[in-house]
Amino acid sequence: MVTTTSEIDQRLEAIVAEQERIFVRRQPGSAQRAERARAHLAGGVTSSWQITRPQPVWLSHGAGSKVYDVDGGEYVDMHGGYGAGLAGHAHPAVVEAVQRQVARGTHFAQPTDDAIAVSEHLAGRWGLPLWRFCNSGTEATMDAVHLMRAFTGRDLILKVEGCYHGHHDSVQVSVAPDAGDVGPARQPNAVAASSGIPAAIRELTIIVNFNDLGSVERALEAHAGQVAGMIIEPVMMNAGIIPPVEGYLAGLKELLHRHGALLAFDEVKTGLTVGPGGWTVVSGVQPDLVTLAKSIGGGLCCGAVGGTDEVMGFVASGGYEMVGTFNGNPLTMAAMRAVMESVATPGAFEHIALLHRRVEEALAGSIAAHGLVAHPVIVGAKGCVTFSADPVRNYRDFLDVDDRYNHAHWLFQHNGGVFLPPWGKTEQWLVSVQHDEADIERFVGNFERFAGAVGA
Ligand SMILES: Cc1ncc(COP(=O)(O)O)c(C=O)c1O
Repeated sequence: MVTTTSEIDQRLEAIVAEQERIFVRRQPGSAQRAERARAHLAGGVTSSWQITRPQPVWLSHGAGSKVYDVDGGEYVDMHGGYGAGLAGHAHPAVVEAVQRQVARGTHFAQPTDDAIAVSEHLAGRWGLPLWRFCNSGTEATMDAVHLMRAFTGRDLILKVEGCYHGHHDSVQVSVAPDAGDVGPARQPNAVAASSGIPAAIRELTIIVNFNDLGSVERALEAHAGQVAGMIIEPVMMNAGIIPPVEGYLAGLKELLHRHGALLAFDEVKTGLTVGPGGWTVVSGVQPDLVTLAKSIGGGLCCGAVGGTDEVMGFVASGGYEMVGTFNGNPLTMAAMRAVMESVATPGAFEHIALLHRRVEEALAGSIAAHGLVAHPVIVGAKGCVTFSADPVRNYRDFLDVDDRYNHAHWLFQHNGGVFLPPWGKTEQWLVSVQHDEADIERFVGNFERFAGAVGA
């Protein structure tokens, strides 16, 4: 029997409508809060990306691998707070470190012993000697961009179409542009990612394609002597998961250095979720700068910039002033130290890899059994299902992926007690060090039911 596109469309729409009804029925407490919040919280949420469809979910608490909504619903948390939750919730080592520090003072704007210990851990893990701290991924990439410009005395930066580096002006360009706006693949348009980004700043950001050394070479030649550096997610993780092809990152470093420009890996998402020393160690390509946040902080606001003696030495010598009232905050430093010493351990990475092997095998089985056009993509503690036959290599391929499958999957998981990150095909799940086999069985069981419903 041949299934037509319009039959598939109707089936998907009916499934999404039914799952959204179940979702809303299960969460009257969230609906009430959404109503009340709208009066004084702009848009009824604390960040615009908390507006999930069909309604935001209010949480009461988290414990271990689980979170609980205000209606008493329990979820295996694979949202992970947009990738920050590698430690899971209330990890004993993080709780102990934070409780100890909170009673001894939460803010001095002077360094503490933990800051030295954390910098030593990061230097050992990433192989980059000099570090500074800040309070978010946005701050980290903003400082990295400033520093590349300050160090080289040049204004232009290269950025990959479809990469997200936080919400400061220089990188709020071509984050998730519409298909109609992207322009020719050989020379992508620089598209403002939100309102409020001045054209004059957007023009300083040159857009290139992921996994395409040719586009970087063309940009460097077209703007010879003007490019300060390139910032890149070494594995794209704001367009599902798109790994770099063999030789791409090494090729970038060679090209950029040949043109007197720097390379910054934005490891805010990859970081500790892809291995003990991030993608820098996995790839064997050491950039001039690395930015970290999310998973290194055990759930506290955090950020870090690391780099070579030469480039971070420019900070040390006062060539660039990297500042912030809360930089090196003692609570954050205590939590980060606990993450380095007791959370992101070799045993934890093995445990996650074992759980992910089960996920990969079960998902592949369900996909084959129900004739879905999809494949799982798993990198370290992160994973997603890409609803396409072929691997996605860049943002242009990603645009072609049908997002309705991801939304339907999100709803099935949610109604089945697993909290995935919202925003469909863009985000990916995170398995924390506290997840166990039972959590994974709940997830793969939901996937099997979803595949049965939407499959051929
Ligand atoms: C790769 C990457 N860089 C930077 C950021 C910004 O981090 P934050 O939200 O902590 O400012 C994000 C956030 O999702 C990110 O994914």
